[in-house]
Amino acid sequence: MTKLLGISGSLRKNSYNAALLRLAVELAPSDCAIEVASIRGVPLYDADIEATEGSPPAVRELKEQLVGAAGLFLVTPEYNFSLPGVLKNAIDWMSRPAADIPRVFGGRPVAVCGASGGRGGTRYAQMAWLPVFRALGLVPWFGAQLHITESAKVFDSTGRVADEKTREQVRSFVAGFARFVSEAESRT
Ligand code: FNR
Repeated sequence: MTKLLGISGSLRKNSYNAALLRLAVELAPSDCAIEVASIRGVPLYDADIEATEGSPPAVRELKEQLVGAAGLFLVTPEYNFSLPGVLKNAIDWMSRPAADIPRVFGGRPVAVCGASGGRGGTRYAQMAWLPVFRALGLVPWFGAQLHITESAKVFDSTGRVADEKTREQVRSFVAGFARFVSEAESRT
């Protein structure tokens, strides 16, 4: 079983990105399980808090969840043509102390996808994550792209997606990444 950790970068109750992550969980191949982690409860990064108290419990939990997974499945909103601060903040906390980076992130495959309200489908946000992946030694999967555009037309009021073409895109994206992760696992 290939285990992935899925993180959505939106705290909004009716988040399209959280809904996209749930769809990925639903459509993952039978030999792949996506555990959903939450960034809720991660405070704003503060080096003084880190120096006096260490990492907050929500951050420690996220780090261990990622250590227990073979790959990271990131579902990112796009804010102002870039990545969302709340998700970057969580990843920044997870990168502390820096000595933990190789254990938590190093060599771990990562896929990024996302859903937006407009027609860009988080293209800019997905690109903006690449230098962060580079800094952390993550291994990005470039086998496919998944941009969900005009999300209000794609997700219903409960976050479900009926459109078979979109569901097939998500199914194929998750399957491709799961294959990449499982091949990486078999090499180690
Ligand atoms: C947005 N949104 C947005 N959409 C987009 O395609 N490109 C962008 O640059 C931005 N910029 C942006 C900035 C800020 C501050 C907000 C709050 C929103 C719209 C965004 O795609 C929309 O709010 C999504 O619904 C956010 O994702 P969730 O919360 O539904 O997962």
